[in-house]
Amino acid sequence: MELKSKIEMAEKRRRELVNRLLAEGTDSWRLFHGVAEGHPGLTIDKYGPLILAQSFRKPLTESEIAFLTERYGDFLVYNHRGAKRERFAFHQPETVALEAVTARELGLEYHIEARHRGIDPYLFLDLRCGRRWLRDQVKGRTVLNVFAYTCGLGVVAASSGASEVWNVDFSASALEVGRQNFVKNGLPLEPHRFLQEDYFAAIWQLSGIGVKGKRARRSFRKLSARRFDLVLLDPPARAKGSFHTVDLVNDYQSVFKPALLCCAPGGTILATNNVGSVEREEFAEVLLRCAEKAGRPLRALQWLVPDEDFPSFDGQPPLKVALCEVG
Ligand SMILES: C[S@@+](CC[C@H](N)C(=O)[O-])C[C@H]1O[C@@H](n2cnc3c(N)ncnc32)[C@H](O)[C@@H]1O
Repeated sequence: MELKSKIEMAEKRRRELVNRLLAEGTDSWRLFHGVAEGHPGLTIDKYGPLILAQSFRKPLTESEIAFLTERYGDFLVYNHRGAKRERFAFHQPETVALEAVTARELGLEYHIEARHRGIDPYLFLDLRCGRRWLRDQVKGRTVLNVFAYTCGLGVVAASSGASEVWNVDFSASALEVGRQNFVKNGLPLEPHRFLQEDYFAAIWQLSGIGVKGKRARRSFRKLSARRFDLVLLDPPARAKGSFHTVDLVNDYQSVFKPALLCCAPGGTILATNNVGSVEREEFAEVLLRCAEKAGRPLRALQWLVPDEDFPSFDGQPPLKVALCEVG
């Protein structure tokens, strides 16, 4: 089947979802999820007026790019997520498509740029299910948003009445976009915090574990131990930091245990794992076992599932979102 027919089928499948999204103040969704819709390695996302196509395996052909340009018009940007020099090499978008645009989701606004220093779009659309859930959980509660990136979850927490939101990420530029997102939504920057710090350096101190051994000689901001009512833990699959490596396949425990210790009794951790090869049951086991061993057994474990614009025909969406109620 041609790309055109696959995209048209995807559009048909989303009709009901799109009506629901528009009704809840969302104008940004995945138009085409290639892995489950017949073209692995291609995604097409809509962020407000912008249409962002990305290829992950091989670049699109010239005729495929011409088809997308004809279909989506001046607001199309196509990026290839291969070698750095190739990233923007296959498509010269119109100037208007490269300007910053506003994406709306759940009545909130997000700053989006189709091309910037990093590789990922400024808002991960599959985590919309987590942001939707969060709205009803945070009133008057304290929130620790780690691996905060552009503070998508932090914006929802602050706008839904959290008393304090700490956004922690080691990327200054991501946090800067996060600050812009707060301002865009008329949210005060204080008492909330935007902490540019390594996750482990921050969480080991907040959890009371402390930064020990030769790592203690490295430079990091000093923080006192404290607990939060909600911990939002949406880490990358793998990232090398100067304190410890994030590795969601082999070592979720290192990321999860200090988060558990930082969570107030009766609080909740939203914990994600976006590695497709890790199945939900396996992830659940790791979370339950780790909580048990840390002396903070989970009272309940529930799941959120990404919306239908991220279809998974085998019932195993790569993004697993666990809601862990901590005892
Ligand atoms: C998958 S994104 C997180 C998405 C985010 N939670 C959201 O809601 O959009 C990964 C983020 O983790 C950050 N990161 C990776 N390793 C880190 C570390 N060791 N300490 C702090 N931030 C880290 C990156 O800078 C990036 O912003």
